[in-house]
Amino acid sequence: VNALQYDAEGNLRHLLTLEGMPRARIESLLDRAEALLPHAHGGTGLRSALAGLALCTLFFETSTRTRCSFQLAAQRLGMDVLNFDAGTASLKKGESELDTLNTLAAMGVRAFVVRHARDGAVAELAAGALPGTVLVNGGDGRSNHPTQGLLDMLALRRRLGRDFSVLRVGIVGDVRHSRVARSDIHALTALGCREVRLCGPASLLPGEGEFPGIGTSEDLDATLEGLDAVIMLRLQRERMEQGLVPSLEDYFRRYGLSRERLARLPGHACVLHPGPINRGVEIESTVADGPQSLILEQVACGLPVRMAVLQTLLATSRGPAG
Ligand code: CP
Repeated sequence: VNALQYDAEGNLRHLLTLEGMPRARIESLLDRAEALLPHAHGGTGLRSALAGLALCTLFFETSTRTRCSFQLAAQRLGMDVLNFDAGTASLKKGESELDTLNTLAAMGVRAFVVRHARDGAVAELAAGALPGTVLVNGGDGRSNHPTQGLLDMLALRRRLGRDFSVLRVGIVGDVRHSRVARSDIHALTALGCREVRLCGPASLLPGEGEFPGIGTSEDLDATLEGLDAVIMLRLQRERMEQGLVPSLEDYFRRYGLSRERLARLPGHACVLHPGPINRGVEIESTVADGPQSLILEQVACGLPVRMAVLQTLLATSRGPAG
């Protein structure tokens, strides 16, 4: 993946993963996003930055936040945006996903944000895409969601400061099936986070040895001890049908972030969740909507992060596709 992600000079050609991304590159994307914040929310000064270029959101899975914020980010930079509808496309006639992508690239679309249920699918498309086309992984399987990882780091940094070496961060819930957890772990590790703790039922924790040096626990109360930030993950309801979780009520009792549990965290501690949230399953409404919640701040950070990613990729990509 890294051979695809970078060109011969080490510039970002696609954004597929945060795994192995150097700290300096993550920090430079976050700095760029922070500088773009005023333009992301209401500013119009950058409408000519990428004018004349086109972006397509090529989603083979549902999305609200990722798709809409990429659309807005591209529009803030003056791009034309196509929202591809997989349900009514010639995919239904048997056209392959790669032929679909390259057909759109031949129309002049330079950048694609792709979401796919299958691990590695976005990298495979990047490998076959026409030269000069840039791809952003909008989430593949349980593997990667790099812009979510970046926006989570920006939200954390804005609330708790730039020095991750003093932070203890917990990630709670269905870590095993979560691409957000993986991208957050890659980013937190690269940024030198003091400690990352993973917590959930054994059936939803990652396999032995996947994250060397990162502690796992089935005990949420012990995990929360002294955390500066806790990232709650969505419980996908099919996990209950698969027998990985006994019941939603039991899950909330053991792994839900309630007001009582939050009160045991330090006063400065903050709560993140990538959304969509299941209120009353992994997080109580009063916590999700309370002053320690960064959930909507995360959404707001998504816009400048995605602008920064598009600017970075399109500044370094070579020539038009086709
Ligand atoms: N956090 C996230 O990826 O949300 P969407 O599925 O709504 O894009």
